[in-house]
Amino acid sequence: MRVLLTGGAGYIGAHTAVALIEAGHDVIIVDDLSGTSAEAVARIETITGAAVPLLVADVRDEAAVAGFVAEHAPVDAVIHLAGLKAVGESMAEPVRYYDVNLGTTIALLKVMDTAGIRSLVFSSSATVYGTPEQLPLTEESPTGIDLANPYGKTKRIIEEILSDAAAADPGLAVVSLRYFNPVGAHTSGLIGEDPNGIPNNLMPFVSRVAIGSLEQVAVFGDDYDTPDGTGLRDYIHVSDLAAGHVAALEHAASGYAVYNLGTGEPVSVLDLIAAFERASGRSIPQVIVARRPGDVAASYADPAKAQRELGWTADLSIDDACRDYWNWQTQNPDGYPRG
Ligand code: NAD
Ligand code: WQD
Repeated sequence: MRVLLTGGAGYIGAHTAVALIEAGHDVIIVDDLSGTSAEAVARIETITGAAVPLLVADVRDEAAVAGFVAEHAPVDAVIHLAGLKAVGESMAEPVRYYDVNLGTTIALLKVMDTAGIRSLVFSSSATVYGTPEQLPLTEESPTGIDLANPYGKTKRIIEEILSDAAAADPGLAVVSLRYFNPVGAHTSGLIGEDPNGIPNNLMPFVSRVAIGSLEQVAVFGDDYDTPDGTGLRDYIHVSDLAAGHVAALEHAASGYAVYNLGTGEPVSVLDLIAAFERASGRSIPQVIVARRPGDVAASYADPAKAQRELGWTADLSIDDACRDYWNWQTQNPDGYPRG
């Protein structure tokens, strides 16, 4: 298949590009490089030996994307990862979040319609479950519970748009993948996560502390009702996540489907820091502070549906993810070189 990856130069997109090419597919990428660098695409080419055409454009620019798709016709499927993802920023700039996340999706649906592309995989998030009523989370768990931030709401609204689009057009195959917490990097150390500024997420923050560019990790609360009092999450290696996209694409059938992509294994904040200390051989200073507003005590997947229907499971451990993240971090202490 030839696959258009939006946001393919980003963290999850770059790993997905590698997984697709290694599975025998062709990849073309559209990315506006607002959150990454063209160097990521050069490195995808180094890892795979394949040429990967890149259009530097905003996905909301329908004419540009349509022209790119026509140039590389036939394109068989789209994986839509482009978008904004910072929870705090979405509270400060809600309109921008709705504009980019919904606008890119709607523009793509129109381009797909015109070009006759019948298959779409979308980057959703476990954030759509809000505060879990029951754990582990299955795809039938209620969504929209206490969704406190516009970022999470964009994902839930996009899922509804996609479900409506699939219902109205029987030939369309649409899959939403609800990622849990992506971590790790490619084993080569050539591609990885490259957050702008001080990271919000736990593993990139811990890694910056390990390498000495940040002083200490603030552990957001140790008074949750969890075994060690710190938050439990389902950290999934980005290479496992990438493989989940290949499986979703290869199994996509007419209609709308949703899958959790997680390990099913709850890991605490303290567990993750300890694993990173083992992987890096460094001691990681940490201090317990107040809970972060909006955080839930625990969130982890029941990944059985993806195993049953896509034949996919997460194989890599939190130790693998820490090893690979550290390898990427030490080889690229300042992330990708920016031109
Ligand atoms: P990322 O920021 O590394 O990748 C997103 C990419 O989209 C970037 O390369 C950016 O340049 C590009 N982009 C942004 N706006 C664009 C636009 N208007 N037009 C074209 N390109 C644009 O983030 P990521 O972690 O790889 O996330 C990919 C997707 O997965 C996002 O949709 C995100 O919401 C979703 N997701 C991420 C996580 C996570 O924790 N990383 C969890 C769940 C879901
Ligand atoms: C993990 C755990 C924190 C930082 C977010 C988004 C979610 C999804 C993934 C996109 C929690 C604790 C964190 C720190 C800490 N993104 N923590 N100190 O909040 O589960 O999910 O990213 O869809 O939508 O909300 O991930 O990595 O920020 O936090 O103690 O400096 O680490 O309290 O328990 P989260 P995270």
